[in-house]
Order: sequence, then C-alpha cells, then structure tokens
Amino acid sequence: MNRPWWQGAVVYQIYPRSFASSNGSGIGDLEGIRRRLDHLAWLGVDAIWLSPFYRSPMADYGYDVSDFCDVDPMFGDLDAFDRLLSDCHERGLKVVVDWVPNHTSDRHPWFEAARSDRDGPKRSWYVWRDPNPDGSPPNNWVASFDTTSPAWTLDEASGQWYLHLFLPEQPDLNWDEPEVEAAMHDTLRFWLDRGVDGFRMDVLHAIGKHPDLPDDPPEYLPIPHSALNHVPEVTLPRVRALRRLLDGYDGDRMMIGEVYLLDTSMVAEYYAGGEGLHLSFNFPPLYAPWDAGAWRHRIDEVATMIDPVGWPTWVLSNHDNPRHRTRYGSEARARAAAFLLLGLRGTPFLYAGEELGLEDAEVPPDRVLDPGGRDGCRAPIPWTPVDGHGWAVEDAWLPWPPGADRGVDAETLRRDPDSILALYRRLLAARRGSSALRFGAQRLIDTPDGALAWERTDGDDRRIVAVNFSGRAVPVDLGEEAVVVVASDGIDEGLPFDGVLRPELGIVLRPSG
Ligand code: NOJ
Repeated sequence: MNRPWWQGAVVYQIYPRSFASSNGSGIGDLEGIRRRLDHLAWLGVDAIWLSPFYRSPMADYGYDVSDFCDVDPMFGDLDAFDRLLSDCHERGLKVVVDWVPNHTSDRHPWFEAARSDRDGPKRSWYVWRDPNPDGSPPNNWVASFDTTSPAWTLDEASGQWYLHLFLPEQPDLNWDEPEVEAAMHDTLRFWLDRGVDGFRMDVLHAIGKHPDLPDDPPEYLPIPHSALNHVPEVTLPRVRALRRLLDGYDGDRMMIGEVYLLDTSMVAEYYAGGEGLHLSFNFPPLYAPWDAGAWRHRIDEVATMIDPVGWPTWVLSNHDNPRHRTRYGSEARARAAAFLLLGLRGTPFLYAGEELGLEDAEVPPDRVLDPGGRDGCRAPIPWTPVDGHGWAVEDAWLPWPPGADRGVDAETLRRDPDSILALYRRLLAARRGSSALRFGAQRLIDTPDGALAWERTDGDDRRIVAVNFSGRAVPVDLGEEAVVVVASDGIDEGLPFDGVLRPELGIVLRPSG
C-alpha cells in the first residue's frame, strides 16, 4: 500500500538553541545540528522538526519572527540551512520546519510600517482597535505568559490598541486581510522551493478569529489563547487553502498543526475531512498523569474522535512543557512511556533529549530567561561527559540538565546497552521492522487495573504492546503464546512472555502461537 511518509515516520523535534553548537557560543546552531546527524541516523528516527531558526529579536526565543525567509545569524545562514537539508535528505531524513502564522515580531518590517503609519498600506495587516470609551482595552482577552495582562497593547502615538495573544513583542497578524494570507503563503513557498518536507504550524487555530472579537466568557479566563473563541468557520477555509498550496508541490509535503485546543473533538475538526491538516498535535495525553485509567480515556478519545477523520499523533514532551521524565518522576516510567509514544497508532513526535532520559534543568532565579517559564525543558543536550559536554564552553545558554556530570550524556549512554538510549534505539528498530507497529489497526485488550495492553494488526503482521503504570506486577491473559521483542527493562527480550508485567514495565510482544 502506498502510504505517505509521515504516517510511518517518527519525527524528532530539535530546539536549535539547545541541540548542538558549532562555534563555542553556548547557543546551538544549524551547523551544530548537521554535525550531529550521526546520532539521529544511529538512533533510527525518520524526520526532524526544527523549531524556529528565523531572524528574531528572541523575545519568545524565535517564535517572534522578524523575517520569515532568512536564518538568524545566531543560527547560521541560508547556506547552512541548505547544507543541513541536503545532508538530511542524503541520509533519508525528512525535514519539517516551524512556521509561525499567527503573529510576527514587533520588529518585523510589516509591523514597523503598520505602527508608524495609521493610514498606511500595512496598517490593516495587524489587529487594531480603538479603546473603549473608558479607555480600557477592546475586549477582556488575556495574554499568554502573563495572564494578568490584557492581550492588547496601547500604541500611544495612534491611540489604538493592537492585539497580541502572546507577548506585546508578538503582534497578531490580521488574517482577514487577504494580503496577509497571500504574503504568508509566499513564506511557505520560499521554504517549499528550497525543498523542505513539511511544516509544523504554530498555534494554527488562532489564525481565524471571530470577526467581532467578543469577550471571552468568564469560565475561559484566565486561560489564554487556548480558549479564545474557537471559530472553525473562519479558520478552516484558511487551513484548506494551506493544504491546497502544499498539495500543489510534489513529494507529500506535510503540515502538522499546533492546534492548542485542549479538547480532542475540536482538534479533530482541523483535519477538515481530508482537506485540512495532515496531522495535528493533540495535547490532552501530554497532560494526562501517569495513570492507566487517565491514559485509557485519552487513547479512547483518539480512537473515536481522531482516527475516523485522520491520522493521529502522539507527543510526550516538547519545548513548552516540563519533560515527561520530570513529570512522571522516574526513569522507569519514562522508559515505559516510550512504549505509549512509539506503540500507539499514529505518528510519534520525540523531543530531543528524551532518548537520553533527560530531566528538566534546575534554573536558578538569576538564570531564568523565558517569559513563559519554560527554560528547564530547553536545557542544552549533553553530548560528552567532559569538555563542556561537546559544546566547547563551560556553560551554555542555560544550565546543563541533572546528571550531565554523572554519565547522563549521549556518548556515555551510547556505550551502555542497558541505557534508556539503547532502549529507544531497540524500540525504534522494532517499529521499523513491523508494519503492524507503524500502520496497524489498534484494539485494546482487557487487562487488570493499573495496566493497558493493545494489539496492533496490519495484514499478517501482529504485535501486542503493554504498559504497566502501577508499582506492582500485573498478570495479563493474552490467550496465546508470545515472544518478548522489546522490554523497557531489557530483562526477557527474545524469550517467551511469562504472562506477567513487571512493575512500571513497557513491553512489545510478538504472538508466536
Ligand atoms: C507555541 C510555541 O510552541 C511556543 O513556544 C510559543 O511561545 C507560542 N506558540 C507562541 O508562538
């Protein structure tokens, strides 16, 4: 069967500042990534997603873009990008880049022109409103990162407020203005023409706002943009237009939306009956606790709401949330969680460093940088045990993650066949070797409380995946013989399954009857 690459792929998220540096600046760059591609090839992922590397004043660490079609000098230049892209393609790795359509930097020439000339042609590219009669902001929306502040900033010179769902340095584009849509389409073409394989589209649901910008109901406050009036009638035509643009190119270019609506049925709408997103992030599982019942609920939601309309995705960690190793509280759980990420039906997104079992860094108050308090999960990747962990500096832009001086580094873990890194590699290989794991239908199997098990089937190929969330052994009755393919503690791989899930175990089984 001819399936698009993004259904079978495992996508590896790279946060460029934190991945690898080529120049001793303490900040990662594109050439640094290129020099570490061996790690990704050895690990066995299929694609990378690069968080923004565009020109940016870095108020939101790159999600405030001042030029969508250039590389920030901090990260290199367009030649460095082209080298990275072609090296990835030579190794068979697809490259997905971030695209930030909802807002620009306040230093983007478009916004500078809009702000400086109330009657100028760029004014309508952003969302401007007069103050209320009492001088207050046009509505009650609050800004992300600081929910005590309005999502509006007063431009003293013109006496009007401009909208920003995020920082004041990130004014929202006005997608009701056709020129904005056209200009943003051009930015996609720029990267498509260079050869990228797809886009991760930042807060995509936000590009369609209710034309009246009505107040949020009180129960939505103070949850910022996630709860903003969700207006699919406005957003979906724009999403469909993006899809048509990508479909006009050869080679299965893919778009995955960051649809940050914490409601799976709303996320499902963005697949737009096969005419919208190829993939969409679905964050409720990321916020689920380490608990079989909570996960079962989230898995059921995906099976009933997403699967009928599109291909699901799974993500446990990213640059916006504490790592799951930290949230779940132990390496045993992080290991078992990998079987959820890589064993459930859908495309997994693996955040750089989770294969090393990295925990969030402890960031002392005087080193806090991010306005959203997300520094911990953005700690630099320790590549080696010594010498600035492969960064050629003693201290990088953020502190090292815990354990970097005690063997939690890529080089040391790679030498240890029992490491979490070795486990990720075995699990990725098991996935690659089984069409059931990559594409197969999924059916939950009855298990006692505390554990989940599911069967994946694609034609003759079958696997069973099980995760024991509890701290005690749980017996499971499969009704057939099976061999252990991968186990999160490595104990009985290659041996017949004895019918018992050890505490906090993840396991892949191949029926052998
Ligand atoms: C979502 C991104 O993942 C996050 O890092 C960023 O701050 C916001 N969108 C705003 O662009």
